[in-house]
Amino acid sequence: EKGGYDHFMLKEIYEQPHAIKDTYRGRLLAKDGIIRMAGVENHKEKFLNANRIIIVACGTSWHAGLVAEYIFEDIARIPVEVEYASEFRYRNPVITNKDVVIAISQSGETADTLAAIKLAKQHGAFVFGVCNVVGSSIARETDAGAYTHAGPEIGVASTKAFTTQITVLTLIALKLAKEKGAISNSDFHYHLEQLELIPDKVSKALESDTHIKAVAETYKDATNCLYLGRGYNFPVALEGALKLKEISYIHAEGYPAAEMKHGPIALIDEQMPVFVIATKMGHYEKVVSNIQEIKSRKGKIIAIVTEGDTDVKKLADHTIEVPETLESLSPLLTTIPLQLLSYHIAVMLNKNVDQPRNLAKSVTVE
Ligand code: M6R
Repeated sequence: EKGGYDHFMLKEIYEQPHAIKDTYRGRLLAKDGIIRMAGVENHKEKFLNANRIIIVACGTSWHAGLVAEYIFEDIARIPVEVEYASEFRYRNPVITNKDVVIAISQSGETADTLAAIKLAKQHGAFVFGVCNVVGSSIARETDAGAYTHAGPEIGVASTKAFTTQITVLTLIALKLAKEKGAISNSDFHYHLEQLELIPDKVSKALESDTHIKAVAETYKDATNCLYLGRGYNFPVALEGALKLKEISYIHAEGYPAAEMKHGPIALIDEQMPVFVIATKMGHYEKVVSNIQEIKSRKGKIIAIVTEGDTDVKKLADHTIEVPETLESLSPLLTTIPLQLLSYHIAVMLNKNVDQPRNLAKSVTVE
């Protein structure tokens, strides 16, 4: 049932090219320049007239929501708030019938997310679900939705659910951007073409596995790690840290790279591995200067870079390459090596990768 892999997590990491393709199949019609999503199409007015979108989720799904915030605001120009479902539901939040709430959940059974949806509905908001499990409680409770077609995710550490959630949310953002006229036709077409290329690029990123395993060997005995990223890749840093924590039990924190100088930089010494997402785009120069700051404090730098990068290579202790893509699509690639790193470290430390201690696949109690 593990299809020849040692663990479900590894199988699911390797399934991502297919899972992403299955998620956009029938929706992304690049040649015709169309995105077909009935759940969005049928409620277009709700989305287009919304004052804002509120995304509610927990854990990895919350990280996918953060990536979506960048895409929705950047491309569709719709204001977005991303909320931990557990905080939102108890905060007496301001919700009106002009709000659209998007609930993201792999299992569709997360208690806090379900409660947040019920609260939003009571206040008249339109609630849209992004779930993986068909017919789950959240899928049934929402007014409309779009499934991720990741297939069953068995490993407690979420992998393919994350990348397929980002795929669905990207499709929604692009569709709304087009409807609103917030994106030019040529830009829209270009995004569709680039999204269609992502599965092959994920396969390419997976080819670094042997190299990533060697990097994992070097850092497996660390007791603390930092993960840094900016912009679209800030949520990827959070997700990288969560993956390491939950399966290897190594303490890790994700930070926006520029926040480092507001505190975490004090932690940096020769014992501290710092994983930096430094792909060649938007904030590249700024990330390079963050790397210099770490280096001058003797931190160990492991950088995720764009294929062919030379600048970061000169500074970092290790680099791991991913193919080039649009900045907005880069989380779909940069997250891959971080998943593999956590996986290999956990295996090397003899941890129970698929069922880490104290964790459950669906958190049905608050
Ligand atoms: O099923 P959900 O997406 O609602 O689950 C949310 C979190 O419990 C989940 O993402 C959790 O953080 C994972 N173990 C992360 O790998």
